[in-house]
Amino acid sequence: MDRRKFLGYGILNSVGILGLAGCGGDMGQNNNINTSSNTINEDSSSSSFIKLPIPPLAEYKIDDGKKIFNLNIQKGQKNFIEDKITPTFGVNGDFLGPTIKVNNQDNVRVNVKNSLDEETTLHWHGLHINGKYDGGPHQIIPVNESWEAKLKIDQRASTAWYHPHTMERTGYQVYMGIAGLFYIEDENSSKLPNEYGVDDIPLVIQDRRFAYNGNFSYVASMHDRMMGMMGNYILVNGAINPTFSPKKTKTRFRILNGSNSRIYMLGFSDNREFSLVATDGGLVEEPLLMKNLLLAPGERAEIVVDVKNGENIALVDFISKNYLMQIDASETLQNSNPLAKNISESFHIQASENEEIRYFDLSMSMGTALINGKTMDMDRIDEYVPLKRSEVWRVSNTSSMMNMPHPFHVHGCSFEILSRNGKAPYIFERGLKDTVLVNKDEVVFIRVYFKKTADENNPFMYHCHNLEHEDLGMMGQFIVE
Ligand code: C2O
Ligand code: CU
Ligand code: CU
Repeated sequence: MDRRKFLGYGILNSVGILGLAGCGGDMGQNNNINTSSNTINEDSSSSSFIKLPIPPLAEYKIDDGKKIFNLNIQKGQKNFIEDKITPTFGVNGDFLGPTIKVNNQDNVRVNVKNSLDEETTLHWHGLHINGKYDGGPHQIIPVNESWEAKLKIDQRASTAWYHPHTMERTGYQVYMGIAGLFYIEDENSSKLPNEYGVDDIPLVIQDRRFAYNGNFSYVASMHDRMMGMMGNYILVNGAINPTFSPKKTKTRFRILNGSNSRIYMLGFSDNREFSLVATDGGLVEEPLLMKNLLLAPGERAEIVVDVKNGENIALVDFISKNYLMQIDASETLQNSNPLAKNISESFHIQASENEEIRYFDLSMSMGTALINGKTMDMDRIDEYVPLKRSEVWRVSNTSSMMNMPHPFHVHGCSFEILSRNGKAPYIFERGLKDTVLVNKDEVVFIRVYFKKTADENNPFMYHCHNLEHEDLGMMGQFIVE
């Protein structure tokens, strides 16, 4: 049996929105994947084998103390399923882009060339940089032109990412394949497995819906627009159920949910424990043991997993009940160092005196997606936020639509989640964040702090990271001064 086909059509198609919505309330309960009909051993011999692709590290040159990268956003094509060729977009390649890796305090320049037939932008999701170089909807790169982003790196070790942010086109352009990782390293990075592609492995998880001819099928109905795109295959670094062969007994996975709207509850097929070592905004203070991890679009998590010689397990999504990647330790593994107990300094954001509370209510009704009752307007600044003064933001989800969760993302900062419905945040949210899932009827309080400015010509954005919702208008603009 071809497992890829079986999983692609057989399991995913049976999962609807209700299956996803169930993840809101009872974290950590839903962790029984049904392996009876497709155990790993049963069909691993007959399914075709795809090695986990690793995005290349982006090359750079050093000029005048600056690291200079060149990214070309281009059209391409790629074989994902059967013998079909899928038209794609990519960065310096056919699909997805290279991993940019820099150090805290580096001076970075990225020349971004737009070789598409349409305008685009490139946003650095998770980076603390001025609005001018944030790559939001105002920093358009016209067809055949280039944009130089000047990025002064000023934040702790973390896994950020880049993707287009074109007004009303973000969902489509990301879906076609424009996305890549952006690593920031600091003196703490090497306390963890840190050899790129060997024991420090990027995993970009995205689902895609394929049409009969192999093309991506993007937004076919009002339903897709309102609920967000749900695919019939899940890709990891652009491959369907690939196999990763560990080299060492500990592997660090840097996981990005790069999907437009699908939420995953990640874990392993044998329900083993793993250690969370970083959230969106960087390394946590100490590793946190857990068995499953909820990851909404835009969110990242870094985990360290122990594997023994001869083991054969899978990374799974407990929501869609799908295998995402096989882990096959049939080669002899080298022993890794034990995991450090303390990996980073405290992430907590200190409260300024007389903190302001700002309100953000996410809602939907037929055909619209709103924040505080408004849809996005490029010519309207919604909020004026002070520089270097913490604030508490109250984010609520009063969607009238059944169980619609919204991952709320804020540009230009990392924030701390203070509470979720009056309780402590989920364990995998106890670190710096820039995106937080807000389920229906939930109220989440976050503490934000901005150390970079954004003016009215180049404001920062806050928005739902369900990209179909973003494109529907669930976004607002703010300046920091
Ligand atoms: Cu990942 Cu405003 O976006
Ligand atoms: Cu962002
Ligand atoms: Cu949303």
